[in-house]
Amino acid sequence: MTTAMHISDTMLNGLIQQANRELSSSNAYLSLSLWFHDQELPGSAEWCRTHSDEERSHALRIFDHIIKRRAKGALVKTVDAQNKYEFANPAEAWKLAMENEQENSRQIHKLVSLARKEEDWTSDNLLQWFVQEQLEEESAVEDIYTNAANLIKTEGLYRQYDDKIKNKEH
Ligand SMILES: [Fe+2]
Ligand SMILES: [Fe+2]
Repeated sequence: MTTAMHISDTMLNGLIQQANRELSSSNAYLSLSLWFHDQELPGSAEWCRTHSDEERSHALRIFDHIIKRRAKGALVKTVDAQNKYEFANPAEAWKLAMENEQENSRQIHKLVSLARKEEDWTSDNLLQWFVQEQLEEESAVEDIYTNAANLIKTEGLYRQYDDKIKNKEH
């Protein structure tokens, strides 16, 4: 029988890994933000900067959950996917963000399966927040990517769109 506090080593390691994925994601959005600044696209850069903070808050949400359950061994061990960002156009940059979000959803879904297999309802409850959040994020980024992919076909159109991006949902 599980209790709220009890957490298996497998589940704990999975959560620690996920927290680190969120931190890597935070770094990736910060790098994207810097890349957009290099392209003189401040709206896109601002969205990614704000989103970088959101991803960091996701990591902290998981670490705080681990702390509350008095589980030991959490550590920051981020792996950054790339040390150079080169994209032919803004749509390619958004495609990277979208694919990262899709992969993150898959990882969260795997953790939900594990939580349910272990009847760890406390982890399941934490993870359900992330399930919903991934829907919001995949949807937001896919929307921007789709628009970007259309707009880059016409010179100058993405630059007009850029100003609107900063006000888009996260
Ligand atoms: Fe996240
Ligand atoms: Fe995300």
